[in-house]
Amino acid sequence: MEEQKTFYITTPIYYPSDKLHIGHAYTTVAGDAIARFKRLTGYDVFYLTGSDEHGQKIERKAEAKGVTPKQYVDEIVGTFKELWKTLDISYNKFIRTTDDYHERTVQKIFKQLYEQGDIYKSSYTGKYCTPCESFWTETQLVNGCCPDCGRPVEEMTEEAYFFRVSKYAPQLIQYIKDHPEFIQPPERANEMLKNFLLPGLEDLCVSRTSFKWGIPVDFDDKHVVYVWIDALSNYITALGYGQKDDALFKKYWPANVHLVGKEIVRFHTIYWPIMLMALGLPLPKQVFGHGWLVMGGGKISKSKENKGCGEHVSVIDPMILCERYGVDAIRYFLLREVPFGSDGVFSNEALLQRINSDLANDLGNLLSRTVAMIGKYFGGKVPAPVQPDDVPEDVALLNAALSLHRSVEARMDELKMPNALTEIFNFIGQCNKYIDVTAPWILAKSEETVQRLGTVLYNLAESLRMVGVMLQPFLTRTPQKMFEQLGVTEGEDTAWASLSTFGVLKPGTEVKKGECLFPRIDIEKELCALDALYGEQAPAEKKEEIPLPAACPCEEEEKEEKPEITIDDFAKIDLKLGLVTNCETIEKADKLLKLTVKMGEEERTICSGIRQWYKPEDLIGKTVVVVANLKPRKMRGIVSHGMILCASDPKDEKLSIVTTLTDMKDGWTVR
Ligand code: MSP
Repeated sequence: MEEQKTFYITTPIYYPSDKLHIGHAYTTVAGDAIARFKRLTGYDVFYLTGSDEHGQKIERKAEAKGVTPKQYVDEIVGTFKELWKTLDISYNKFIRTTDDYHERTVQKIFKQLYEQGDIYKSSYTGKYCTPCESFWTETQLVNGCCPDCGRPVEEMTEEAYFFRVSKYAPQLIQYIKDHPEFIQPPERANEMLKNFLLPGLEDLCVSRTSFKWGIPVDFDDKHVVYVWIDALSNYITALGYGQKDDALFKKYWPANVHLVGKEIVRFHTIYWPIMLMALGLPLPKQVFGHGWLVMGGGKISKSKENKGCGEHVSVIDPMILCERYGVDAIRYFLLREVPFGSDGVFSNEALLQRINSDLANDLGNLLSRTVAMIGKYFGGKVPAPVQPDDVPEDVALLNAALSLHRSVEARMDELKMPNALTEIFNFIGQCNKYIDVTAPWILAKSEETVQRLGTVLYNLAESLRMVGVMLQPFLTRTPQKMFEQLGVTEGEDTAWASLSTFGVLKPGTEVKKGECLFPRIDIEKELCALDALYGEQAPAEKKEEIPLPAACPCEEEEKEEKPEITIDDFAKIDLKLGLVTNCETIEKADKLLKLTVKMGEEERTICSGIRQWYKPEDLIGKTVVVVANLKPRKMRGIVSHGMILCASDPKDEKLSIVTTLTDMKDGWTVR
């Protein structure tokens, strides 16, 4: 029997010095999507994460809190594990650098390197950044401050052990040149060569005497192991390297990918490979340095606590976001929004837009429309298709469905999760267009077209099954909900291999209308709620008082599926012509415009979410149609009285106000 291929992926071990924020979740969710994808495509995967618990910073924090460092880290590590559970992180092992097998092995590694002459004793004077636990050379400082976090550094001298990295530099330079896949994206390899390796590598200080919270050097216990030798070793100690049972190490090492944020690429692509060379071990196949999630503008950034690591997102709590929008919405945003490798802006507005447009409109609607139509026209049983080979939209849909998994695999092999998701969502878009083009509600009107209707609905349901299968690495709850509604049993029919056939879903399968996958969110309202949640007026204890977004009904059906109304129902709506006499933007409301609208004698203020499509000056002097008897509503502190009618495409990409063709008077009725 062919042996299953292994795949070993790691994310960094986190400092338990602060609460984890959405930026931390970014690395770990990305690692999880890769691990799940590899498992699904047949690999035996080992996914490692953990906590990096030693160092002066933690010692100081514990002291300030009046607890021992171990008590301090125990509590915080508990919150890490809770967060990973909430985010459905499927790690195989969580290593703590305070685990005794790790401590013992680090001592052994240190001793071996010392005995073979790669570690030597000397003294060190240098510029030290305590929060980053890094020594820097004068030339590396930026404006005299730490180049990683921008905070001031202190001059320090102490007796210390050094790692003779300079000895291995030529070998490493050659290795990087011979293995272009080793450091990804490639520009990070150039950065390492240009900024660190080619100018000449200085030996690395690997022990400290000025604090105690670290792994003692067992042959010189005045010293503790300086944190990077301790931290980086986790990738092999977790597998049993240097221990009695090293079966996992034999099976999984070398790692396929170390996923790390860009600021720690240096440690992973210079010091770590050199350590491995000195130990005579193979190097990891790839170190991928991703970018940072950074904060955008908007009110929420006011409460951003600037800790010096200027650009990092430091306040957004992923727990709160998961609670409000569900874990899949957060995972989707993290994996979809930012090209993997580059920096990207986090904003609540972007998150909510993504949820509404991709998840609620495109995916959620596709599923609920398909299931509802199978319910309505075929009594809830998946109809049997008759696949003609000459209907262009069918041929295009089937071809796209069948080739999609290969593009997703190709994108995932390059660790381009956003691109893989884009491919899947483009296909979802194609399915939605297929509904528009085939117009099932018209096919349903005649006996003669009922067979065609069955084919159309079958194609949609089968496409959705395939989408569900492909979404499994990214979203952990939604695929199951989709399968349930489609009547698909998990197993063979949801395995990756099922993607090479279009036609797995059995005709006659019973579909089950379920809850709407992603309720649409009223973005303006929700942004206000988040403002209050994070803003100065809302102390932490008040959090529970802020309501979760209301589950508004899905826009699940075609227009004709809306209930019929009588002329009397319609007459209840008072539509009037209005003249826009003034229009302005509203501070911190990216979507709203505030209009002054004259309707005969009356003048009204109306807020309208059309800022994306109109500049204020475009609207002044225009005649608009106003829903005049709409209940007034407060938006961003402004009472908006009425609503302006607009026409838009289903995705809200194009929008136009509704106006009149000839000159008409404001205040006149529209009917
Ligand atoms: N303990 C070290 C890693 C040692 S690995 C042997 C460390 N810990 S950390 O807690 O500071 O960071 C852990 C990971 O979170 C890093 O990869 C870091 O880049 C990532 N992120 C922290 N803030 C981030 C963003 N705002 N955006 C994306 N990732 C960022 O470094």
